[in-house]
This record gives sequence, C-alpha cells and structure tokens, in this order.
Amino acid sequence: MTDSPADVLLVHGGAPLEGEIRVRGAKNLVPKAMVAALLGSEPSRLRNVPDIRDVRVVRGLLQLHGVTVRTGDESGELVLDPSHVESANVADIDAHAGSSRIPILFCGPLLHRLGHAFIPGLGGCDIGGRPVDFHFDVLRKFGATIEKRADGQYLEAPQRLRGTKIRLPYPSVGSTEQVLLTAVLADGVTELSNAAVEPEIEDLICVLQKMGAIISMDTDRTIRITGVDKLGGYTHRALPDRLEAASWASAALATEGSVLVRGAEQKSMIAFLNTFRRVGGAFEIDDEGIRFWHPGGPLNAIALETDVHPGFQTDWQQPLVVALTQASGLSIVHETVYESRLGFTSALNQMGAHIQLYRECLGGMPCRFGQRNFLHSAVVSGPTRLQGSDLIIPDLRGGFSYLIAALAAQGTSRVHGIDLINRGYENFQEKLMELGAKVDRP
Ligand code: EPU
Repeated sequence: MTDSPADVLLVHGGAPLEGEIRVRGAKNLVPKAMVAALLGSEPSRLRNVPDIRDVRVVRGLLQLHGVTVRTGDESGELVLDPSHVESANVADIDAHAGSSRIPILFCGPLLHRLGHAFIPGLGGCDIGGRPVDFHFDVLRKFGATIEKRADGQYLEAPQRLRGTKIRLPYPSVGSTEQVLLTAVLADGVTELSNAAVEPEIEDLICVLQKMGAIISMDTDRTIRITGVDKLGGYTHRALPDRLEAASWASAALATEGSVLVRGAEQKSMIAFLNTFRRVGGAFEIDDEGIRFWHPGGPLNAIALETDVHPGFQTDWQQPLVVALTQASGLSIVHETVYESRLGFTSALNQMGAHIQLYRECLGGMPCRFGQRNFLHSAVVSGPTRLQGSDLIIPDLRGGFSYLIAALAAQGTSRVHGIDLINRGYENFQEKLMELGAKVDRP
C-alpha cells in the first residue's frame, strides 16, 4: 500500500455500537444552498452546516468568486455575502473543484451574475459513469452557449437566460437543481417535467422561495418556476442528513448494537424505516431523533430495489447490504439508480460474505441497466461470519459500509483511503469512538 498512515484506520471488530451521535444538515442540500446564495443581492445565513469536505470545497469556490463566507454566531452557521461577485481564475477553480461534483451547479448562478462560467473536469464517487449531459442540455435550452476545451467547459449567456419547457430523460437530482438554480432568475416561466423530488430538492425550493423565487410543485413530478428580476438573501436551517442517519442505523443493526441518532427525522426516511423494520431492525422515534437497534434473534432476508424518491434511496443501499449479510436466507438487491454501485461487495466476499452479482434486473421493475452488461443486481445469502481484512475504500457510501463490515467482523481490519469518508460524514472517527468502536491509527 502506498497511502500514508494518516489515511488508514485500524478497526477491531466484534463489539456492538452503543450510544448516541448527532447528524447535522444534509450533505446533499447544504452545498447547493450555499451555491444558491450566489443568486442573491443580500447576505444569506445557513444553519446546521456540517464540517465536511464538500462544504469546504464549495466555500472555497464561492470565495474565489468574490463571495465572503464567515462563520455565524451559532455552531454550524455560515453567513454568505454575495455583494461583490467576480470572475475567478480558471486554474484556481480547477485546483479547488477537483474532488467534487457540485461545481456544475455554479453554472446558472454565474451566468446570471457574470454572463459567463467555467466548469472544470468533475470528481465525485466512482459508482457509475456519472455523465453531465442533462445539465448541459438544460443550460442550452435556457439560452447558454457551451464550448468544450481541453481544461473544461466554458459557458456564456449572450443575453438574459429565458424560461423554457424541459423534460428530463430521468428524474436526476443534480439536473433538477440545475434547472431550479437557473430558472429562478430567467426571463419568464420554466416548466420542468420528470423532475426529481427528493427531500433535499424540496428544501432547496424552500431556500429559493425565502429569497423571493416563485416555484410550484405538482404531484406528477412537474415543477413550475416563474422567473423574477431580483432575489434577496435567506435564513435557513438545513434539513437533517437522512443518508448519514441511515448509515448509523445500518451500523447498529449489523453490529447488534443500539444507536440513538439525534437530529434524524422520520418524514424523510419513511422508505428506509419500512425496510429496516422488514429486515427485523427496531426503531423508536421522538422529537430528538431516532433510536435504531437490533432486537435480538435472526434478521430477515428481503427483496430490495433502489429508486428515486419516494422509493428506497440508492445511498441507503450499500450500508444496509452489510446488515443483509447477517440475515437468514437469500436477499435480493436491485440497484436501479447507479450502474456500478454494487462493486463494493467484492470486498465483503473477501471478508466471508456470500454475494453474487447479476447483469439481469432481479426485481419487479426492469430498469435502464437491464441487458446492458452492468452487474447491478445482487443475491446476498446469509447469515455469514465476517472476518477482518485489508480494505480499500472505493467511494463514500461504500467506504462507510466497509467500516460497518469491519466493526461487525471478527478480528482487525486495515481500512485504506479513509479520508474519503470526510467528504460526507462529519467527525466520523470521533462518532465511532463515542459509540464504543475500537478504532485507531496504525
Ligand atoms: N444522469 C445522467 N446524466 C446527467 C445526470 C445524471 O445520465 O446529466 C444519471 C446518472 O448517471 C445516474 C442518474 O442519472 O444514473 C441519477 O443521477 P443524479 O443526477 O440524480 O445524481 P447526482 O445529482 O449526481 C445526487 C447525490 C448522490 C445521490 C443521487 C441520487 C449530491 C452531491 N449527490 O447525485 O449522492 O446518490 O443524487 O439521489 O447531491 C452520495 O451522497 O453518496 C451520493 C452519491
């Protein structure tokens, strides 16, 4: 291994996670709400902001574009002042943006504020091809011109962007956000159909509405935005991170423990909670959060399909699969959002799990990946004893899943590439230790 000791975590498995931790604002909302602040003519105040790498990347990019960002009075509060937005140096943007996909969402706001934007090659987790074709198609419909050069994409708005009618080929989260962040200041009405309606998108709509936008959501995935001439600032508390909350829930189940996730909220987790209960996990909800635990006895094998909201979120899949290795019988998992999000299972097999991948759609709904050579369905047969192993983190959620597997396993695991988890999990090592996990650095 060539990585530094600081990027390796030793996990001594076999002990249940017990105790409580807190989740803050959602990784998949906070950076977008920060980008939204660029659209305003006044400062915005965002609360419940976690200290994660994606937030730091966006903070750096905003500062490069002349936005002042300072911490507010309460813990986790950012104040963003976009009074002096200016062009940034292309090399600086590239240097800052490398590890994230959020920069693509700067396009609409920068086109409105400056008339031009530059988007470097994008990072993000390796869980599928992750193209950005929808984003650029949408921006062209608003009237932007896009030129691809060796170092990235150069966009211009020859005149004010205008509202338009758009139908997304798939309810993509990022493309829906792209439309929202562009349409709010465009001239006239934008009608977006086949939009994503994830809770983080609803929260972004709330942010934009606070700024003065006019946005309505129909029940059939149609969003209508009436462009306005000017937006102000906002004060907003980000919705809690339902993806992180579910990761801790799966960790409690797989290690036969009990974890109170303070800040977790039922209404954005209904599909997860139903599935958690079907597997045999127990939970209790109150105003403070949700306590998740393993009630004893065998867990149940289940059939699971990931889907866009309100279905079972793809980001919940990888952590829960670790718990399914401990369930009795054959579980079937059909991943329909990302074509390569099951690759992480090979390391679980190396630890003793029995997971077989299939190209076919093993589920009720045929998906975009059927007959296309992607190993996107899995049969998990359990229960299996897991043994500690050498693990290399492949992506954010897969990485957290390896931590769960290492905690549930007998013996010690060396987990490499641990820094990637800081992209989306605030203080995860401290939280693990608070829950009694035996982890240390080599
Ligand atoms: N897609 C295209 N073309 C595009 C955009 C998307 O084909 O231009 C496809 C993707 O390849 C994928 C599907 O559409 O197969 C859905 O992608 P989507 O655009 O919804 O994903 P995203 O916006 O890039 C966000 C989250 C992901 C989360 C997905 C789905 C952020 C920063 N990322 O990604 O979160 O899995 O929505 O809910 O918000 C994570 O948190 O670990 C994570 C990967």
